[in-house]
Amino acid sequence: MQAKDKIIVALDYSQEQEALSMAARVAPYAGIFKVGFELFISAGPSVISKIHAFGGKVFLDLKLHDIPNTVARAALSASALQVHIFNVHASGGFEMMQRTALEVGKTKNPPLLIGVTVLTSMDSKTLKKDLNIDLSAAEQVVHLAKLAKKAGLGGVVASGEEITRIKENCGAGFKIIVPGVRPSWSEKNDQKRVVTPKEAIERGADYIVVGRPITGADNPAEAAKKILKEIS
Ligand code: C5P
Repeated sequence: MQAKDKIIVALDYSQEQEALSMAARVAPYAGIFKVGFELFISAGPSVISKIHAFGGKVFLDLKLHDIPNTVARAALSASALQVHIFNVHASGGFEMMQRTALEVGKTKNPPLLIGVTVLTSMDSKTLKKDLNIDLSAAEQVVHLAKLAKKAGLGGVVASGEEITRIKENCGAGFKIIVPGVRPSWSEKNDQKRVVTPKEAIERGADYIVVGRPITGADNPAEAAKKILKEIS
């Protein structure tokens, strides 16, 4: 894999034009663009083909969580849009993930199917209080990563701190996407547990998600280039 295909730039915009012009500026140094709820809901699926038009790949970050049939069918629609990476909530359960992986696996050019484990906005305390889960957040992440692997998913989203335990439990081939990445020269913003791009890759991350350190920089292309150099 080319180093630039390890960098996923988060296009957290509601305006399609803003998202596309940012993507085009940084495309020489980053291969994948994350389209989340904000952009997808406001711009619609055509934003994906517009990113493809200048050679970008798309991570469609819709974190689906519903009954197995509904999620599997929605994932087929995502697959038809030729997205490179797509995700579902692992807490939707084994059957939901397995059915989705099976259906998507039958398509011609299937996306890498990723599970969301525990949102980083939740910690062990909120897991217990809100969801009545006794495991620590770290234990629950590993539990859900193992379940996702067994169900046939290709990997998970995880924080930089969880990479080692997931690789130990799920094997080196199980992909890990790491957000909350901050180069030493950029602001942390609201991210708390951050790793640098280099640290994330050294620990075994297959992809890093970078938003504001690139999109909020005075010169986004230069920032992306610096990150690419750091991980190459
Ligand atoms: O701007 P920043 O680099 O913080 O953006 C990170 C992106 O990754 C955002 O789109 C955010 O929603 C997403 N993300 C995250 N932490 C997670 C999962 C996703 O920051 N655990």
